Amino acid sequence: MAGDGVLNLNENPAGEPISQLQSQGNLRMKVEARKIVKKMKGGSGSYLMECDDDRSYVVKFKDGSKNVVSEFIGGELANALQLPAQSHAIVEVGQELIETIPDHKQRGITGTVHHGTLFNENALDLDSRNLTTSATILNAGNIPGVVTFDNLTQNNDRNNAGNNLFVEVAPGTYSYVMCDYNCMFNGSGWSTATLTASVSNINLMPVHPILATAIAGLAPFDLAFDRITKLSTSTIHSIIETIPSTWSVTRDEQDTLVGFLESRKKLVPQIILANKSAFPKWGSNVV
Ligand SMILES: Nc1ncnc2c1ncn2[C@@H]1O[C@H](COP(=O)(O)OP(=O)(O)OP(=O)(O)O)[C@@H](O)[C@H]1O
Ligand SMILES: [Mg+2]
Repeated sequence: MAGDGVLNLNENPAGEPISQLQSQGNLRMKVEARKIVKKMKGGSGSYLMECDDDRSYVVKFKDGSKNVVSEFIGGELANALQLPAQSHAIVEVGQELIETIPDHKQRGITGTVHHGTLFNENALDLDSRNLTTSATILNAGNIPGVVTFDNLTQNNDRNNAGNNLFVEVAPGTYSYVMCDYNCMFNGSGWSTATLTASVSNINLMPVHPILATAIAGLAPFDLAFDRITKLSTSTIHSIIETIPSTWSVTRDEQDTLVGFLESRKKLVPQIILANKSAFPKWGSNVV
């Protein structure tokens, strides 16, 4: 656990859900928004908000879709799978603050609990960083886990440059950070019917070329496959059960989500192994 109270997500050997870990790292699972810092870019209309723990979060608002539910599940799963993700929180935003945001009334957004991802001011996405496939990625060993996660959850937006964050750790050397789980389950309009219809889909989910090229070695996915195999049913249950009740996920949807993730766990290694050609350096020695 880092000394400043920020979770080091690589130090989670037991693969605990974030909700169980945050209290150990002085990060709260629930915070209250104090003020708006700025509007973020992107289709979901997120805002950077300063919260009552003196930290800033990229907040997505509960609207008529399942966006906040997907963000919550994504944040918890990423941590359980020891992936390079920002920690996250439930963010209470009061009605007064909500009303200062122009289009919120029209989108039916009200003062309640929304979802926030801890802002990393050093993390810039690929729209801002001119990285090529030859960039050095310090934590490239985690990228097979990201691809595995995307196929587990049917996250169909990873090839969007804005969803791939990089922190420069030394000149020309970067550390990869995931963001944006809105497009898990093939988009935030998911339902029990769409989950059931897509659960057996064997298409490889989109991979950004920088990530595809960073995967090298003779068996690059072994660790990631081992981690999803060890992702227990009880961990999946506890993630789904901790979704805030105000987000109104029905019992049927909860059961379908658990069944979906259980089925995908078994299918994902087959999908990835059948698509080795999508990863040009698979089979080459790691340099
Ligand atoms: N935790 C974070 N730290 C720093 N920057 C972030 C963080 N989360 C998101 N961002 C930046 O904010 C932008 C918007 O966030 P995000 O991608 O989650 O929302 P979105 O693009 O609106 O969603 P969608 O892609 O579904 O339209 C990202 O492109 C990224 O540049
Ligand atoms: Mg995005």
